[in-house]
Amino acid sequence: SINLHGRSVLSLDDLSADEIRFLLKLAADLKAAKQAGHEIPRLVRKNIALIFEKDSTRTRTGFEVAAYDQGAHVTYFGPSGSHIGHKESMKDTARVLGRMYDAIEYRGFAQHQAELLATHAGVPVYNGLTNEAHPTQILADFMTMREFTHKHLSDMTVAFVGEGRDNVAQSLAVGAAKVGIDMRIASPKELWPDDEFCAHVRTLAQRSGGRFRLDEDVKGCVEGADFIYTDVWLSMGEDKSAWAERIRLLTPYRVTSEVMSASGNPHVKFMHCLPAFHDTETEVGASVAREFGIDCMEVTDQVFESGASIVFDQAENRMHTIKALLVATIGN
Ligand code: CP
Ligand code: NVA
Repeated sequence: SINLHGRSVLSLDDLSADEIRFLLKLAADLKAAKQAGHEIPRLVRKNIALIFEKDSTRTRTGFEVAAYDQGAHVTYFGPSGSHIGHKESMKDTARVLGRMYDAIEYRGFAQHQAELLATHAGVPVYNGLTNEAHPTQILADFMTMREFTHKHLSDMTVAFVGEGRDNVAQSLAVGAAKVGIDMRIASPKELWPDDEFCAHVRTLAQRSGGRFRLDEDVKGCVEGADFIYTDVWLSMGEDKSAWAERIRLLTPYRVTSEVMSASGNPHVKFMHCLPAFHDTETEVGASVAREFGIDCMEVTDQVFESGASIVFDQAENRMHTIKALLVATIGN
């Protein structure tokens, strides 16, 4: 039987395929209980620290609402306002927070900092996004994929189109390889994940019966896909001077209606972890539009707003899957 009590999740490498499936089942049960109005609180008297060295909408609210629904309390640490990240080391921060909190969520830059926290806190640490990985996002994505097809994860085909080295793309690839998904990434060669990472994913995929393929050709890559996934072209913390080069490299990898059709699957769904740049409504969108003369980046507004788009289901499921993770690791 599965027991995740006391466990940290810094990347999907920390979870077996059975543990991932266990969390998805628990998340579905918790979602149904909340919707039916009879959720049982299993985190009463628990205190959870939420550290965000980068901004967040979904991950922060996912953790906060999940905690409140289950009877726990949270403390939010933003990019400023505490000594974290400048005046005090992560090792010392970990030993302080570990004395007061039952678990710690960490969003930051280097994966190494999340590992330091987990090593020294003595309580579960959850990676809420680093430059390298975004494991809790993928739990929500798998839950959403299950909701929109009748297939088992191991029978699904997912194509990520965009920056292959992206944290979400890489965590998706690891998760997919664990549970046996046919996973493809369409990306310019310059932005492919490194060889060591690809070898690791291929080893996992061999064990699970999954597949992993990198491609420069978008249309070939998405053929037969159940889901087409993309993410922003420049992640938080990346140097804005890289914009021009990214736009040049990635414009052929924009998810358009033609790309959706190239799947050959009338039921293909569009996925995005969000936030997305699909119009010029935002400050970033408007400034990039002015500077580079484009009105969308990774996805067209047409695809984003289409019936094939399941991005807000993904966003909602962030909360249900984070709740499952909290209940499984620190619940009564
Ligand atoms: N998808 C995601 O992690 O969103 P936030 O940056 O809003 O948390
Ligand atoms: N790749 C993006 C994901 C945001 C949820 C970033 O790291 O900014």
